[in-house]
Amino acid sequence: MYEILENEILAPNLHRLTVKAPRVAGARKPGQFVIVRADRGDERIPLTIGDADPAAGTVTLFIQAIGASTRKIVDIPVGGALRDVAGPLGQATHIENWGRVACVGGGVGTAVLFPLARALAEAGNQVTTVIGGRSEQYIILADELAAFSAEVLITTEDGSSGRKGFVTHALADLIADPAKAPKVVLAVGPVPMMRAVAELTRPHGIETVVSLNPIMIDGTGMCGGCRVVVGGESKFACVDGPEFDGHLVDFDGLSDRLTTYRSFEERARHAATE
Ligand code: NAD
Ligand code: FES
Repeated sequence: MYEILENEILAPNLHRLTVKAPRVAGARKPGQFVIVRADRGDERIPLTIGDADPAAGTVTLFIQAIGASTRKIVDIPVGGALRDVAGPLGQATHIENWGRVACVGGGVGTAVLFPLARALAEAGNQVTTVIGGRSEQYIILADELAAFSAEVLITTEDGSSGRKGFVTHALADLIADPAKAPKVVLAVGPVPMMRAVAELTRPHGIETVVSLNPIMIDGTGMCGGCRVVVGGESKFACVDGPEFDGHLVDFDGLSDRLTTYRSFEERARHAATE
């Protein structure tokens, strides 16, 4: 059992959990994830490891309560426990000093972006962070990201904080400014956002890495649930990713696969609230 030491609400339906998991905390690298179950027999939920404190033996997990299983996890109070925290899984982020890097986070994806942006800053990159949400209450981790970013640009769709619009509007301005144009872009968020970022950077030849979140089951490359097509080849996000070259990802195929179980999820959500 893995005790929950903190459970904090960051934005509507988005929780930050601090969980006692010493082995994972000691082994994890930025970009890796765990698969979590609230209880025996429950759905397995992949979650990026947002942060880790090996000395305290804890990991930080960000979780959006969007279905019955994720709601069950965020409803566990401090002092309660998760049944399983399996990992660390997946490839660590490829980190090098490229010079100027832009890290782009859309909504909840900002939580996944956080450890990657920090690792890039620690490697000597000048990191400009662009984060966006529907409105101010969906902007998360701005202060934490500002601690190591050269600049944090905020966008909201209703203009309630920062620039009105999408993250891609702020990124387009950055690319157009020769003094700020990034050599590499990392983007994490909803699929339409990652696709839009890749299309924006493609004509400029800017290397673009996206972090994919397909449906995962075993997390070990056995079930095929997380299959994505990258550069015409089938890849498993759980063992080959979750990060891939955004210019090579088949975003249409990814979107189709993400909607496969929507009707089951709706039924499970209704059953849980009845
Ligand atoms: P959202 O739909 O509120 O979008 C957040 C921001 O992303 C927007 O404000 C905008 O700036 C940008 N964006 C969205 N669509 C865009 C487009 N077409 N073009 C340009 N920019 C766009 O996001 P949310 O509700 O917080 O996120 C939920 C989605 O994110 C879910 O589908 C979830 O599966 C996905 N997600 C992905 C990851 C990952 O690892 N890639 C991690 C967590 C969540
Ligand atoms: Fe089963 Fe990746 S989750 S192969």
